[in-house]
Amino acid sequence: MPEHPTKRITIPSLRARKAVGPKIVCLTAYDFPTAKILDEAGIDLILVGDSLGMVVMGYENTVPVTMDEMIHHTKAVTRAVRRALVVGDMPYFSFHLGADETVRNASRFLKEAGAAAVKIEGATKKRLKLVEAMVEAEIPVMGHVGLTPQSIHELGQFKVKGKDAEEARRIVEDAVNLEKAGAFAVVLESVPLEVAGTVTETVGIPTIGIGAGPRCDGQVLVFHDLVGYTTGYQPRFVRKYADLYGTIGRAVGEYAADVRAGRFPDDATSYHLKPQAVAGAAPERGPGPSGRAKT
Ligand code: KIV
Repeated sequence: MPEHPTKRITIPSLRARKAVGPKIVCLTAYDFPTAKILDEAGIDLILVGDSLGMVVMGYENTVPVTMDEMIHHTKAVTRAVRRALVVGDMPYFSFHLGADETVRNASRFLKEAGAAAVKIEGATKKRLKLVEAMVEAEIPVMGHVGLTPQSIHELGQFKVKGKDAEEARRIVEDAVNLEKAGAFAVVLESVPLEVAGTVTETVGIPTIGIGAGPRCDGQVLVFHDLVGYTTGYQPRFVRKYADLYGTIGRAVGEYAADVRAGRFPDDATSYHLKPQAVAGAAPERGPGPSGRAKT
């Protein structure tokens, strides 16, 4: 459990954790009950990631996710959260048309959905200007470098970034530039642990790793991966702490068998008339369709 189980996590308190610890614990959530469980479990940072497109909506990648979908899910999450810092993920094409459009979209996460911050992928020169514009508009921004899943069509496949010296140097530079642009934290996705270690030592803002090894200031995983609520390919960096897919499948199978066999509902799961109403509640018996009274 966290040191202060009820004290709200803020951007300054999160930033302070870089120096004093403990490590920042982050998970994704996309709905009310999950967010409530995570918040009550003391998760510090809840990311309403655009990964919702893949794990909740069944898209092949995160590209189709829209602003309206992100706002809808972020609202559900913030309704449940009392302590954690909620970050909304800027979906693909919510920040590609210029600073005004970016700030307008980012502000929706705060004004409409109740999030405290947004996350944006990438650190090109243009992207850094957008980070500056959002920060200027009082919108706290979390960066995201290394593997950036919204670039899937350009990349061809999800793979580790920063394995060679030039790419590794670029990742460190990207994180440094994001800090300069005003980001309060940076996600490092699918990068060698040595690179993540160098970034963590170099920047003054917390690093949150996913597939980036243990040297980050915090860790994030996709909730559905953690609890085994997905099927198919799992990246090497996932540790599965439960098998919800199997558990739910078994529960649903038992329910179906009980309904078919007449075991559900039973007396305990049915309502009863008040004893004195039993006789009076029977319908008047008129002639049946054949013209004869029913017996
Ligand atoms: O969309 C998401 O869930 C993310 C995390 C994997 C960092 O960006």
